[in-house]
Amino acid sequence: MTVLAPLKIGTAEFKADPFSYYRRLRDESPVHRVTLPDGQSAWLVTRYDDVVAALKDERLAKNHFRVLTPEQHARRPWIPASFRPLARNMLNVDPPDHTRLRALVQQAFSPRLVEGMRERIESLSHELLDRAAARGRMDLIRDYALPIPTTIIAEMLGVGVEDRHKFNRWSNRILAASGSRWGMMRAIPSGLLFMRFVRRLIQQRHQRPGNDLITALIGAKQAQDVFSDDELLAMIILLIIAGHETTVNLIASGMLALLEHPAQLARLRQDPTLIKSAVEELLRYTAAVELATERYVTEDFEFAGVRFAHGDMVFAVLASANRDERQFADPDALDVSREPNRHVAFGQGIHFCLGASLARLEGQIAIQALLDRTADLRLAIESSALKWRSGLLLRGLKALPVRFTPRHKTLQSGRALEEHAPLL
Ligand code: HEM
Repeated sequence: MTVLAPLKIGTAEFKADPFSYYRRLRDESPVHRVTLPDGQSAWLVTRYDDVVAALKDERLAKNHFRVLTPEQHARRPWIPASFRPLARNMLNVDPPDHTRLRALVQQAFSPRLVEGMRERIESLSHELLDRAAARGRMDLIRDYALPIPTTIIAEMLGVGVEDRHKFNRWSNRILAASGSRWGMMRAIPSGLLFMRFVRRLIQQRHQRPGNDLITALIGAKQAQDVFSDDELLAMIILLIIAGHETTVNLIASGMLALLEHPAQLARLRQDPTLIKSAVEELLRYTAAVELATERYVTEDFEFAGVRFAHGDMVFAVLASANRDERQFADPDALDVSREPNRHVAFGQGIHFCLGASLARLEGQIAIQALLDRTADLRLAIESSALKWRSGLLLRGLKALPVRFTPRHKTLQSGRALEEHAPLL
Protein backbone atom coordinates (compact mmCIF):
# COMPACT_ATOMS: atom_id res chain seq x y z
CA MET A 1 0.00 0.00 0.00
CA THR A 2 1.44 3.38 -0.89
CA VAL A 3 -1.31 5.72 0.33
CA LEU A 4 0.92 6.84 3.13
CA ALA A 5 3.83 8.77 1.73
CA PRO A 6 6.07 9.48 4.71
CA LEU A 7 9.15 11.51 5.02
CA LYS A 8 11.83 8.94 4.36
CA ILE A 9 12.05 6.59 7.33
CA GLY A 10 15.50 6.72 8.94
CA THR A 11 16.27 10.30 7.89
CA ALA A 12 17.04 13.02 10.43
CA GLU A 13 13.83 14.88 9.49
CA PHE A 14 11.73 11.77 10.09
CA LYS A 15 13.31 11.26 13.53
CA ALA A 16 11.99 14.58 14.80
CA ASP A 17 8.47 13.12 14.82
CA PRO A 18 8.12 9.52 13.69
CA PHE A 19 5.06 9.11 15.93
CA SER A 20 2.39 10.76 13.78
CA TYR A 21 3.37 8.60 10.79
CA TYR A 22 3.21 5.44 12.91
CA ARG A 23 -0.19 6.48 14.31
CA ARG A 24 -1.54 6.62 10.76
CA LEU A 25 -0.01 3.24 9.96
CA ARG A 26 -1.61 1.66 13.05
CA ASP A 27 -5.00 2.92 11.89
CA GLU A 28 -4.76 2.51 8.15
CA SER A 29 -2.15 -0.14 7.38
CA PRO A 30 -0.90 -1.78 10.58
CA VAL A 31 1.48 -4.16 8.81
CA HIS A 32 2.95 -1.97 6.13
CA ARG A 33 5.37 -2.56 3.24
CA VAL A 34 8.11 0.09 2.93
CA THR A 35 11.27 0.70 0.95
CA LEU A 36 14.24 1.22 3.23
CA PRO A 37 16.95 3.84 2.63
CA ASP A 38 19.26 1.13 1.26
CA GLY A 39 16.64 0.16 -1.34
CA GLN A 40 15.46 -3.09 0.28
CA SER A 41 11.77 -3.75 0.98
CA ALA A 42 10.52 -4.66 4.42
CA TRP A 43 7.37 -5.01 6.51
CA LEU A 44 6.76 -2.64 9.43
CA VAL A 45 4.63 -4.14 12.22
CA THR A 46 3.12 -1.25 14.18
CA ARG A 47 0.38 -2.34 16.63
CA TYR A 48 1.32 -3.31 20.19
CA ASP A 49 -0.19 -6.83 20.15
CA ASP A 50 1.30 -7.58 16.74
CA VAL A 51 4.75 -6.30 17.80
CA VAL A 52 4.72 -8.58 20.85
CA ALA A 53 3.51 -11.51 18.72
CA ALA A 54 6.14 -10.89 16.02
CA LEU A 55 9.01 -10.72 18.52
CA LYS A 56 7.95 -14.06 19.99
CA ASP A 57 7.22 -15.83 16.70
CA GLU A 58 9.75 -18.55 15.84
CA ARG A 59 8.88 -18.27 12.16
CA LEU A 60 10.59 -14.88 12.22
CA ALA A 61 14.29 -15.68 12.58
CA LYS A 62 17.38 -13.55 13.00
CA ASN A 63 20.06 -15.45 11.12
CA HIS A 64 19.63 -14.60 7.44
CA PHE A 65 22.45 -16.97 6.46
CA ARG A 66 20.16 -19.79 7.61
CA VAL A 67 16.93 -18.46 6.11
CA LEU A 68 17.61 -16.88 2.72
CA THR A 69 18.08 -18.72 -0.57
CA PRO A 70 21.28 -17.95 -2.56
CA GLU A 71 19.16 -15.82 -4.95
CA GLN A 72 17.70 -13.83 -2.05
CA HIS A 73 21.19 -13.38 -0.62
CA ALA A 74 22.45 -12.06 -3.92
CA ARG A 75 19.83 -9.28 -3.81
CA ARG A 76 20.99 -8.03 -0.39
CA PRO A 77 23.19 -4.91 -0.24
CA TRP A 78 26.89 -5.65 -0.52
CA ILE A 79 28.84 -6.01 2.72
CA PRO A 80 32.61 -6.61 2.73
CA ALA A 81 33.59 -10.22 3.43
CA SER A 82 35.88 -9.04 6.24
CA PHE A 83 32.74 -8.00 8.19
CA ARG A 84 31.48 -11.57 8.24
CA PRO A 85 32.74 -12.33 11.78
CA LEU A 86 30.56 -9.52 13.17
CA ALA A 87 27.43 -11.40 12.15
CA ARG A 88 28.21 -14.04 14.78
CA ASN A 89 26.75 -11.99 17.63
CA MET A 90 23.83 -13.12 19.80
CA LEU A 91 21.43 -10.56 18.35
CA ASN A 92 21.98 -11.96 14.84
CA VAL A 93 21.54 -15.65 15.55
CA ASP A 94 18.82 -18.07 16.67
CA PRO A 95 18.74 -20.94 19.15
CA PRO A 96 20.76 -22.98 19.90
CA ASP A 97 23.58 -20.52 19.03
CA HIS A 98 21.72 -17.64 20.65
CA THR A 99 21.12 -19.57 23.88
CA ARG A 100 24.78 -20.59 24.09
CA LEU A 101 26.15 -17.08 23.45
CA ARG A 102 23.71 -15.27 25.72
CA ALA A 103 24.38 -17.69 28.60
CA LEU A 104 28.05 -16.64 28.57
CA VAL A 105 27.29 -13.05 29.62
CA GLN A 106 23.83 -13.23 31.18
CA GLN A 107 25.22 -13.38 34.71
CA ALA A 108 27.35 -10.23 34.36
CA PHE A 109 24.23 -8.20 33.54
CA SER A 110 21.98 -9.68 36.26
CA PRO A 111 20.02 -7.17 38.38
CA ARG A 112 22.11 -8.11 41.44
CA LEU A 113 25.51 -7.48 39.85
CA VAL A 114 24.23 -4.35 38.17
CA GLU A 115 23.00 -2.99 41.51
CA GLY A 116 26.62 -3.32 42.68
CA MET A 117 27.55 -0.63 40.13
CA ARG A 118 25.25 1.97 41.70
CA GLU A 119 27.96 3.88 43.58
CA ARG A 120 30.25 3.97 40.59
CA ILE A 121 27.51 5.32 38.30
CA GLU A 122 26.58 7.87 40.95
CA SER A 123 30.11 9.14 41.47
CA LEU A 124 30.70 9.29 37.71
CA SER A 125 27.52 11.32 37.17
CA HIS A 126 28.50 13.80 39.89
CA GLU A 127 32.05 14.05 38.60
CA LEU A 128 30.72 15.04 35.17
CA LEU A 129 28.33 17.54 36.74
CA ASP A 130 31.18 19.07 38.78
CA ARG A 131 32.93 19.89 35.54
CA ALA A 132 29.86 21.38 33.91
CA ALA A 133 28.82 23.31 37.05
CA ALA A 134 31.51 25.95 36.71
CA ARG A 135 30.31 26.80 33.20
CA GLY A 136 26.57 26.69 33.93
CA ARG A 137 26.06 25.21 30.47
CA MET A 138 26.88 22.03 28.62
CA ASP A 139 26.02 19.84 25.71
CA LEU A 140 24.02 17.34 27.71
CA ILE A 141 24.99 14.58 25.27
CA ARG A 142 28.73 15.13 24.84
CA ASP A 143 29.36 16.18 28.45
CA TYR A 144 26.98 13.88 30.33
CA ALA A 145 24.58 11.43 28.68
CA LEU A 146 27.26 9.85 26.46
CA PRO A 147 30.21 9.54 28.90
CA ILE A 148 28.10 7.75 31.55
CA PRO A 149 27.12 4.56 29.67
CA THR A 150 30.34 4.64 27.63
CA THR A 151 32.56 4.70 30.71
CA ILE A 152 30.54 2.04 32.51
CA ILE A 153 30.51 -0.47 29.63
CA ALA A 154 34.22 0.22 28.99
CA GLU A 155 35.05 -0.45 32.63
CA MET A 156 32.96 -3.64 32.68
CA LEU A 157 34.70 -5.00 29.61
CA GLY A 158 38.15 -3.74 30.51
CA VAL A 159 38.45 -1.36 27.56
CA GLY A 160 40.59 1.74 28.21
CA VAL A 161 38.25 4.64 28.92
CA GLU A 162 40.72 6.90 27.09
CA ASP A 163 39.74 5.03 23.91
CA ARG A 164 36.05 5.87 24.24
CA HIS A 165 36.10 8.65 21.62
CA LYS A 166 37.49 6.20 19.10
CA PHE A 167 34.97 3.44 19.65
CA ASN A 168 32.13 5.92 19.86
CA ARG A 169 33.10 7.34 16.44
CA TRP A 170 33.37 3.86 14.91
CA SER A 171 30.06 2.66 16.33
CA ASN A 172 28.31 5.88 15.18
CA ARG A 173 29.45 5.15 11.64
CA ILE A 174 28.45 1.48 11.83
CA LEU A 175 24.97 2.41 13.04
CA ALA A 176 24.61 5.02 10.31
CA ALA A 177 25.38 2.32 7.72
CA SER A 178 21.73 1.28 7.62
CA GLY A 179 20.73 4.86 6.79
CA SER A 180 21.92 4.80 3.18
CA ARG A 181 24.34 3.21 0.69
CA TRP A 182 26.75 6.10 1.32
CA GLY A 183 26.46 5.32 5.05
CA MET A 184 27.54 1.75 4.32
CA MET A 185 30.62 2.95 2.43
CA ARG A 186 31.58 5.28 5.26
CA ALA A 187 31.13 2.50 7.80
CA ILE A 188 33.68 0.18 6.19
CA PRO A 189 36.91 1.77 7.49
CA SER A 190 35.33 2.26 10.92
CA GLY A 191 34.27 -1.38 11.09
CA LEU A 192 37.75 -2.55 10.15
CA LEU A 193 39.43 -0.27 12.71
CA PHE A 194 36.97 -1.37 15.40
CA MET A 195 37.71 -5.04 14.69
CA ARG A 196 41.46 -4.44 14.77
CA PHE A 197 41.11 -2.54 18.06
CA VAL A 198 39.12 -5.35 19.72
CA ARG A 199 41.42 -8.09 18.36
CA ARG A 200 44.34 -6.24 19.98
CA LEU A 201 42.42 -5.96 23.24
CA ILE A 202 41.76 -9.71 23.24
CA GLN A 203 45.46 -10.33 22.63
CA GLN A 204 46.40 -8.00 25.50
CA ARG A 205 43.99 -9.71 27.91
CA HIS A 206 45.44 -13.09 26.91
CA GLN A 207 48.86 -11.84 27.96
CA ARG A 208 47.77 -9.72 30.94
CA PRO A 209 44.45 -10.94 32.36
CA GLY A 210 42.42 -8.35 34.29
CA ASN A 211 39.32 -8.31 36.46
CA ASP A 212 36.93 -7.70 33.59
CA LEU A 213 34.43 -9.31 31.26
CA ILE A 214 36.80 -9.79 28.32
CA THR A 215 39.20 -11.72 30.57
CA ALA A 216 36.26 -13.79 31.89
CA LEU A 217 35.13 -14.58 28.33
CA ILE A 218 38.65 -15.61 27.31
CA GLY A 219 38.73 -17.85 30.40
CA ALA A 220 35.39 -19.44 29.48
CA LYS A 221 36.62 -20.02 25.94
CA GLN A 222 39.82 -21.68 27.12
CA ALA A 223 38.08 -23.83 29.75
CA GLN A 224 35.22 -25.15 27.63
CA ASP A 225 35.90 -24.15 24.06
CA VAL A 226 32.27 -23.08 23.84
CA PHE A 227 32.70 -20.37 21.27
CA SER A 228 34.87 -19.32 18.36
CA ASP A 229 37.29 -16.40 17.93
CA ASP A 230 34.76 -14.71 15.64
CA GLU A 231 32.02 -15.09 18.23
CA LEU A 232 34.22 -13.57 20.93
CA LEU A 233 35.05 -10.61 18.69
CA ALA A 234 31.39 -10.11 17.70
CA MET A 235 30.23 -10.37 21.32
CA ILE A 236 32.60 -7.65 22.52
CA ILE A 237 31.69 -5.30 19.68
CA LEU A 238 27.95 -5.88 20.26
CA LEU A 239 28.32 -5.17 24.00
CA ILE A 240 30.28 -1.97 23.37
CA ILE A 241 27.79 -0.66 20.80
CA ALA A 242 24.57 -1.76 22.56
CA GLY A 243 26.01 -0.70 25.91
CA HIS A 244 26.35 2.96 25.07
CA GLU A 245 24.52 3.95 21.87
CA THR A 246 21.12 3.33 23.43
CA THR A 247 21.31 4.62 27.01
CA VAL A 248 22.70 7.94 25.78
CA ASN A 249 19.38 8.40 23.98
CA LEU A 250 17.33 7.46 27.03
CA ILE A 251 19.11 10.07 29.18
CA ALA A 252 19.23 12.86 26.59
CA SER A 253 15.85 12.42 24.88
CA GLY A 254 14.38 11.69 28.32
CA MET A 255 15.64 15.03 29.65
CA LEU A 256 14.36 16.78 26.54
CA ALA A 257 10.90 15.24 27.09
CA LEU A 258 10.92 16.45 30.71
CA LEU A 259 11.99 19.94 29.67
CA GLU A 260 9.14 19.99 27.17
CA HIS A 261 6.69 18.93 29.92
CA PRO A 262 7.48 21.30 32.81
CA ALA A 263 4.59 20.08 34.99
CA GLN A 264 5.94 16.51 34.84
CA LEU A 265 9.46 17.76 35.52
CA ALA A 266 8.19 19.67 38.57
CA ARG A 267 6.40 16.55 39.87
CA LEU A 268 9.59 14.54 39.60
CA ARG A 269 11.65 17.25 41.30
CA GLN A 270 9.12 17.36 44.13
CA ASP A 271 8.88 13.61 44.56
CA PRO A 272 12.15 11.79 43.74
CA THR A 273 10.52 8.42 44.60
CA LEU A 274 8.90 8.73 41.16
CA ILE A 275 12.27 8.26 39.44
CA LYS A 276 11.71 4.56 38.62
CA SER A 277 8.29 5.03 37.04
CA ALA A 278 9.55 8.21 35.34
CA VAL A 279 12.37 6.33 33.63
CA GLU A 280 9.93 3.61 32.50
CA GLU A 281 7.75 6.35 31.03
CA LEU A 282 10.72 7.98 29.30
CA LEU A 283 11.68 4.59 27.86
CA ARG A 284 8.14 4.27 26.48
CA TYR A 285 7.84 7.84 25.31
CA THR A 286 11.20 8.66 23.71
CA ALA A 287 11.89 5.53 21.58
CA ALA A 288 15.65 5.24 22.17
CA VAL A 289 15.38 2.11 20.01
CA GLU A 290 12.74 2.94 17.41
CA LEU A 291 12.73 -0.38 15.53
CA ALA A 292 13.75 -3.79 16.82
CA THR A 293 16.42 -5.29 14.56
CA GLU A 294 15.26 -7.12 11.44
CA ARG A 295 13.76 -10.60 11.38
CA TYR A 296 13.47 -12.94 8.35
CA VAL A 297 10.41 -14.99 7.43
CA THR A 298 11.33 -18.70 7.48
CA GLU A 299 8.12 -19.98 5.76
CA ASP A 300 5.09 -18.42 4.04
CA PHE A 301 2.35 -17.52 6.51
CA GLU A 302 -0.50 -15.14 7.29
CA PHE A 303 0.31 -12.42 9.84
CA ALA A 304 -2.22 -9.84 11.01
CA GLY A 305 -4.03 -9.84 7.68
CA VAL A 306 -1.04 -9.85 5.33
CA ARG A 307 0.87 -12.67 3.66
CA PHE A 308 4.50 -12.98 4.77
CA ALA A 309 6.60 -14.81 2.17
CA HIS A 310 9.74 -16.83 2.82
CA GLY A 311 12.75 -14.49 2.99
CA ASP A 312 10.76 -11.27 3.63
CA MET A 313 12.32 -8.83 6.09
CA VAL A 314 10.20 -7.72 9.06
CA PHE A 315 10.69 -4.92 11.58
CA ALA A 316 8.71 -4.63 14.82
CA VAL A 317 8.28 -0.90 15.41
CA LEU A 318 8.78 -0.45 19.15
CA ALA A 319 8.23 3.31 18.92
CA SER A 320 4.78 2.64 17.51
CA ALA A 321 3.78 -0.17 19.90
CA ASN A 322 4.70 2.09 22.82
CA ARG A 323 2.29 4.78 21.60
CA ASP A 324 -0.55 2.40 20.67
CA GLU A 325 -3.85 3.71 21.99
CA ARG A 326 -5.08 0.09 22.05
CA GLN A 327 -2.62 -0.57 24.88
CA PHE A 328 -1.92 2.78 26.60
CA ALA A 329 -4.39 5.36 27.83
CA ASP A 330 -3.60 8.78 26.34
CA PRO A 331 -0.39 7.43 24.78
CA ASP A 332 1.00 10.75 23.55
CA ALA A 333 0.87 12.25 27.05
CA LEU A 334 3.97 12.03 29.25
CA ASP A 335 3.03 10.82 32.74
CA VAL A 336 5.95 10.17 35.11
CA SER A 337 3.72 8.04 37.36
CA ARG A 338 2.07 6.01 34.58
CA GLU A 339 0.78 2.72 35.89
CA PRO A 340 0.49 0.14 34.39
CA ASN A 341 3.23 0.71 31.83
CA ARG A 342 3.97 -2.49 29.94
CA HIS A 343 6.15 -0.84 27.31
CA VAL A 344 8.28 -2.83 24.89
CA ALA A 345 11.25 -0.45 24.76
CA PHE A 346 13.58 -3.37 25.59
CA GLY A 347 11.93 -5.74 23.12
CA GLN A 348 10.29 -9.08 23.94
CA GLY A 349 11.03 -12.77 23.75
CA ILE A 350 14.44 -14.40 23.69
CA HIS A 351 16.30 -11.29 22.48
CA PHE A 352 14.87 -9.10 25.27
CA CYS A 353 17.56 -6.55 26.10
CA LEU A 354 20.43 -8.12 28.01
CA GLY A 355 21.38 -4.71 29.43
CA ALA A 356 17.90 -3.65 30.62
CA SER A 357 18.80 -3.54 34.34
CA LEU A 358 21.96 -1.59 33.62
CA ALA A 359 20.19 0.86 31.31
CA ARG A 360 17.44 1.42 33.89
CA LEU A 361 19.93 2.08 36.68
CA GLU A 362 22.05 4.40 34.54
CA GLY A 363 18.94 6.29 33.45
CA GLN A 364 17.60 6.65 36.99
CA ILE A 365 20.90 7.82 38.48
CA ALA A 366 21.84 10.15 35.64
CA ILE A 367 18.47 11.91 35.55
CA GLN A 368 18.18 12.11 39.34
CA ALA A 369 21.69 13.54 39.74
CA LEU A 370 21.04 16.10 37.03
CA LEU A 371 17.85 17.28 38.74
CA ASP A 372 19.55 17.38 42.16
CA ARG A 373 22.50 19.41 40.93
CA THR A 374 20.78 21.96 38.72
CA ALA A 375 18.18 24.64 39.21
CA ASP A 376 16.28 26.15 36.26
CA LEU A 377 17.65 23.63 33.76
CA ARG A 378 16.60 24.82 30.30
CA LEU A 379 17.37 24.45 26.61
CA ALA A 380 20.11 26.79 25.36
CA ILE A 381 18.63 26.83 21.83
CA GLU A 382 15.12 26.73 20.37
CA SER A 383 13.78 23.18 20.40
CA SER A 384 13.00 23.54 16.68
CA ALA A 385 16.77 23.94 16.09
CA LEU A 386 17.62 20.55 17.65
CA LYS A 387 19.05 18.03 15.19
CA TRP A 388 18.40 14.30 15.22
CA ARG A 389 20.78 11.59 14.07
CA SER A 390 19.80 9.68 10.96
CA GLY A 391 19.79 5.86 10.96
CA LEU A 392 17.12 3.21 10.86
CA LEU A 393 17.05 1.58 14.28
CA LEU A 394 17.89 4.12 16.96
CA ARG A 395 16.43 7.53 17.75
CA GLY A 396 18.62 10.15 19.37
CA LEU A 397 19.71 13.76 19.21
CA LYS A 398 23.04 14.93 17.84
CA ALA A 399 23.48 17.47 20.63
CA LEU A 400 21.41 18.92 23.47
CA PRO A 401 22.75 22.31 24.60
CA VAL A 402 21.40 23.31 28.03
CA ARG A 403 21.96 26.08 30.60
CA PHE A 404 21.43 25.92 34.34
CA THR A 405 22.31 27.35 37.72
CA PRO A 406 24.39 24.79 39.62
CA ARG A 407 23.12 23.54 42.99
CA HIS A 408 25.03 22.27 45.98
CA LYS A 409 26.25 18.71 45.55
CA THR A 410 25.16 15.85 47.79
CA LEU A 411 25.49 12.19 47.04
CA GLN A 412 22.43 10.17 47.96
CA SER A 413 24.66 7.61 49.62
CA GLY A 414 26.32 10.46 51.58
CA ARG A 415 29.85 9.42 50.56
CA ALA A 416 32.59 11.86 49.71
CA LEU A 417 33.05 12.31 45.98
CA GLU A 418 36.83 12.30 46.27
CA GLU A 419 36.80 8.56 47.06
CA HIS A 420 37.03 7.83 43.35
CA ALA A 421 39.94 8.94 41.25
CA PRO A 422 38.66 10.78 38.17
CA LEU A 423 38.65 8.47 35.20
CA LEU A 424 37.86 10.74 32.32
C1 HEM B 1 17.91 2.59 27.10
C2 HEM B 1 18.80 1.69 26.81
C3 HEM B 1 18.52 0.45 26.00
C4 HEM B 1 17.47 0.14 25.19
C5 HEM B 1 16.22 0.97 24.90
C6 HEM B 1 17.74 -1.17 24.65
C7 HEM B 1 16.88 -1.85 23.79
C8 HEM B 1 17.11 -3.13 23.32
C9 HEM B 1 16.20 -3.84 22.47
C10 HEM B 1 14.87 -3.31 21.95
C11 HEM B 1 16.73 -5.06 22.22
C12 HEM B 1 16.12 -6.18 21.38
C13 HEM B 1 16.39 -5.96 19.93
C14 HEM B 1 15.70 -6.97 19.04
O1 HEM B 1 14.99 -7.87 19.52
O2 HEM B 1 15.87 -6.85 17.83
C15 HEM B 1 18.01 -5.11 22.90
C16 HEM B 1 18.86 -6.18 22.86
C17 HEM B 1 20.11 -6.16 23.44
N1 HEM B 1 20.64 -5.19 24.26
FE1 HEM B 1 19.74 -3.45 24.78
N2 HEM B 1 18.94 -1.62 25.10
C18 HEM B 1 19.44 -0.67 25.95
C19 HEM B 1 20.63 -0.73 26.66
C20 HEM B 1 21.51 -1.78 26.63
C21 HEM B 1 22.72 -1.86 27.40
C22 HEM B 1 23.20 -0.83 28.44
C23 HEM B 1 23.33 -3.02 27.07
C24 HEM B 1 24.63 -3.50 27.66
C25 HEM B 1 25.52 -4.18 27.05
C26 HEM B 1 22.50 -3.69 26.07
C27 HEM B 1 22.77 -4.88 25.45
C28 HEM B 1 21.90 -5.57 24.63
C29 HEM B 1 22.21 -6.86 24.03
C30 HEM B 1 23.51 -7.63 24.16
C31 HEM B 1 21.09 -7.23 23.28
C32 HEM B 1 20.90 -8.52 22.47
C33 HEM B 1 20.21 -9.53 23.35
C34 HEM B 1 19.93 -10.83 22.63
O3 HEM B 1 20.06 -10.93 21.41
O4 HEM B 1 19.58 -11.80 23.33
N3 HEM B 1 21.40 -2.90 25.84
N4 HEM B 1 18.20 -3.93 23.57
